[in-house]
Amino acid sequence: MFLSSPRKALFLFGLPRSGKTTLTEFLFDAISTQPLPFFLTGFITRELREAGERIGFDLIYLRDKTFKLPLARASSQLPKKGSSRPRVGKYTVFPENLEKMIELLEKDLLSTKNALIFMDEIGKMESFSEKFINFLTHLWEKNLKIVATLGKGEQPLLKEWRNKWEALYIEVTPENRDFLKDRLILEFIRKGKLIVIEGIDGAGKSTLFTILKERFSHKNIVFSFEPTQGQYGKILRNLLREAKVDQETLLELFVKDRTEHVEKLILPSLKEGKTILLDRYYLSTIAYQGVHFRELPYLLLKNETIAPLPDLVIYLEIPIKLALERIQKRNKDISLFEREDLLEKISEIYAKILPLFNYKIIKGDKPLEELYAEILALLKVFIPQI
Ligand code: TMP
Repeated sequence: MFLSSPRKALFLFGLPRSGKTTLTEFLFDAISTQPLPFFLTGFITRELREAGERIGFDLIYLRDKTFKLPLARASSQLPKKGSSRPRVGKYTVFPENLEKMIELLEKDLLSTKNALIFMDEIGKMESFSEKFINFLTHLWEKNLKIVATLGKGEQPLLKEWRNKWEALYIEVTPENRDFLKDRLILEFIRKGKLIVIEGIDGAGKSTLFTILKERFSHKNIVFSFEPTQGQYGKILRNLLREAKVDQETLLELFVKDRTEHVEKLILPSLKEGKTILLDRYYLSTIAYQGVHFRELPYLLLKNETIAPLPDLVIYLEIPIKLALERIQKRNKDISLFEREDLLEKISEIYAKILPLFNYKIIKGDKPLEELYAEILALLKVFIPQI
């Protein structure tokens, strides 16, 4: 989950009125009732309405919502015209109030090393305050965990925070915001564990998986794999045997298959506190489809908006030549990706993205029993009941 992952920040972004603020407040409130080893603080920015019309924004301190400060007011609400204050559209902005809020958060942070700071939002209005920008940079550099919403706009500040490699980005839309409440809470509070085995074709994943499944059938562990056996997974398995496939279609199908998997199996199991062991997950999409879609952040966003972060990724690493030998011996249909040049690129992408997760690399070119013993020792640390 996010809280125990190497990701420094969780950024929610989406168009105005997509529900980012409501989601941020929901998460803060839900998490603050739980015993977490993190000090929680932060602020949200709430719209102010009068007779159906938006007349401004207030900053609200999340630890005590009665503490409010005006961030901006529609110019029609203010007595005198021609002020030299910063403006965004029809709003006059009060950066000094944002700075008061930041001072409050700074005070909160004096007494703690482990903090989770909620900030709604990093937007145009906030970009007028240097203190705010410095505060944000300070949090990032000190590895304090940030949950923040990102406004739209092309200011350098917004562009910079939209492009951080070590962040978890989630796209909020009116259609997915209810689903996201369910899905995102699991990034902070998770009773179950999600463990994923990844590797290039021929790495030995599936053989290992079969053994794990046989030996742990009585341990209340949920075993599953992707592509799944659902409606999209079936189409995918057929497509993967074809020589020429439209990559866009393939990507969409993998994401649809995963969405179904998350909704039907992964979320319910994690909520029930179960441990799930997966043979492939969205790291496969980043690595395999990343060969054709160079924009890895785009692939990460598309997948991580729907799929919970794994708690552990076990990566089976083997030399490409050995993988190809194994594939040829397997004597079944060769899949689309089982070519040296592609497997080379796929393993390069895996190497690049693994540090975004809690991961362990295990050398896969050893006798199966040895491999099994190594994995078992690793799993025992994560799943005490086995
Ligand atoms: P398998 O090795 O588990 O049988 O996986 C089937 C193939 O599908 C394998 O070549 C990897 C590929 N794949 C992707 O390209 N993207 C994905 O998201 C997943 C799950 C698999």
